[in-house]
Amino acid sequence: MEPIKVVVHGAAGRVGQEVVKAVCQDPETRLVGAVELKAPSDKLILPDGSGAIPYLADLEEVLEACLPDVVVDFTIAKASIPAVRACAAHGVNMVIGTTGFTPADLKEMESLAATRKIGIVVAPNFALGAVLMIHLARIAGRFMDHAEIIELHHDRKLDAPSGTSLTTARDMAGARGKPFLPPAAKGADSASRGESTEGINIHSVRLPGLMAHQEVIFGAPGQTLSIRHDTINRECYMPGVMLAVKEVVKRKEFIYGLDKLLGL
Ligand SMILES: NC(=O)c1ccc[n+]([C@@H]2O[C@H](COP(=O)([O-])OP(=O)(O)OC[C@H]3O[C@@H](n4cnc5c(N)ncnc54)[C@H](O)[C@@H]3O)[C@@H](O)[C@H]2O)c1
Repeated sequence: MEPIKVVVHGAAGRVGQEVVKAVCQDPETRLVGAVELKAPSDKLILPDGSGAIPYLADLEEVLEACLPDVVVDFTIAKASIPAVRACAAHGVNMVIGTTGFTPADLKEMESLAATRKIGIVVAPNFALGAVLMIHLARIAGRFMDHAEIIELHHDRKLDAPSGTSLTTARDMAGARGKPFLPPAAKGADSASRGESTEGINIHSVRLPGLMAHQEVIFGAPGQTLSIRHDTINRECYMPGVMLAVKEVVKRKEFIYGLDKLLGL
């Protein structure tokens, strides 16, 4: 079978650089082009030294020159939306890791996937371990009445609490079908108790030296249960991204969340 032809949008970014390497290392995929606002030249030398590919600031130009099967996007929401429209117009599938979309943005993607018959996978978290952590927390939350989340990130992260912690809390509450219970002591609601979402207090730690970590702690009489995920480096996203690249070419639909591709 021919390798899947991939273009990376945001190729000089922290995650984009990892995607470039991962696509080049996988025999089932081939990097055919790269797009980057800050492209330093019009050619990107492939990491394995096997040649050079077009490296431009304009996605349309790269789509026309390289005819990819999939565009992988790790940029900013403001750049992703025009990229989705351009890919849809060219009938090119997309894997999107960029965060910060509005519900209207997601609706537009869903509608473009349907009308243009392309696959679009959007996943706010491509780390398999993080997706499994949420899945396991959903199961545990059905059986344990008290839960709190501690999320820990590097000190350059702008938002708090993290999107993943909010998703975890909402998913846990949804799976449980009723609220989690508050602490027994009345008045235990000072600022140091964190922000409450769905009855789950979320505590945000921001420190240099950290990357992305989250612990979900359940409490019940006489026992606790902790489910923890640690991101060591950005390689953690690559198995999820590569799975999505291979799946998106087979599915002509809009898919939100890596959990759907894992069959969880
Ligand atoms: N889904 C996930 O698992 C996951 C994981 C990590 C980061 N992210 C998200 O991915 C995005 C990128 O993260 P990052 O850490 O790599 O950021 P980054 O700032 O290091 O990289 C973004 C890159 O996109 C480029 N870019 C911006 N606008 C562009 C445009 N119009 N055309 C071409 N290139 C453009 C920038 O120049 C930059 O090189 C963020 O939204 C982040 O929240 C998602």
